Amino acid sequence: MSVVEKAAALKERPAEAPANDACGRPHSFSLDHARLAELGMYRPDAASSQLALELRAVKRRLLRRLGYLRASGERQAYRMPGRQRNLILVTSTRASEGKTFSAANLALSLAFEDQIETLLIDADIPRPKVRSRFSLPSGPGLTDKLVNPAMNLHAMQHRVVGAPLTILPEGARIDRVSELFAGEECQRLLTALSTEIPDRLVIIDAPPVLATTEAVILAKYVDEIIFVVEANATPEPAVASAIDELLDVNPNVSLMLNRCLFGSGGSHYGSYDYYGPGDTADEPSGAKAEGASHGT
Ligand SMILES: Nc1ncnc2c1ncn2[C@@H]1O[C@H](COP(=O)(O)OP(=O)(O)O)[C@@H](O)[C@H]1O
Ligand SMILES: [Mg+2]
Repeated sequence: MSVVEKAAALKERPAEAPANDACGRPHSFSLDHARLAELGMYRPDAASSQLALELRAVKRRLLRRLGYLRASGERQAYRMPGRQRNLILVTSTRASEGKTFSAANLALSLAFEDQIETLLIDADIPRPKVRSRFSLPSGPGLTDKLVNPAMNLHAMQHRVVGAPLTILPEGARIDRVSELFAGEECQRLLTALSTEIPDRLVIIDAPPVLATTEAVILAKYVDEIIFVVEANATPEPAVASAIDELLDVNPNVSLMLNRCLFGSGGSHYGSYDYYGPGDTADEPSGAKAEGASHGT
């Protein structure tokens, strides 16, 4: 078989994780820039895109709320001792409002632009999408670790080449996810992930609030919740009731407006509006509350 034939045969084979589990190290992978472009996502090679600019405003507020940034925009040299503030849950009212899109974009932007160590976890077990966004092979992930704590967590992870970004995919599809998330092992795992690398940010792509109880269960363990609202689509009463459920367990909920549609072509822009309790308004006023007119 010639080299070309071998390469073609490899290409046709279903993707499989390379067999480095025994080493207990994450699998490394290269970002598929063409796929990110096709999905309209953040691309490290397009630093001045509209999406990259909007993500910068979101990150600045998020980092300040987590204690990473001073109001002046300088990185904090020392963060408060004690429990880390680095667990971030991304959720929304219902499916397809842009949770994965937003969680993945934030993770990419934090890692590539700010060089902040970031872990992206897919916790939307019924509708996992992180793996396909990053063209990752099938393999074990979060649920496997929760069901079988003896499994090596690092060997389930995927590390992007060229930036401090690691991904923990969803794992095997199982029933009773709520029970699993409510269990001691989930809490133990999240605490371990929070403290393992103190300056790392952990972004959890969660299921929607109104579909199951899973997001509200996870909300109890995290430091910040980013609630994605789809511009001109998510019904207001649904948003209010989902946010009430979250606020019952965690007061740190911020809203992020996604998918404003502008222009005659009806193109989608990843447009964000992020505000939360205790946040001082240091963004241009157009980037606050007036979600529908943002960016016009
Ligand atoms: N701002 C946006 N611009 C372009 N496409 C978007 C945007 N937000 C979401 N999408 C697309 O909409 C679909 C649903 O988004 P997704 O993030 O998977 O939703 P969720 O995780 O809330 O179910 C995906 O195909 C995603 O790429
Ligand atoms: Mg999703």
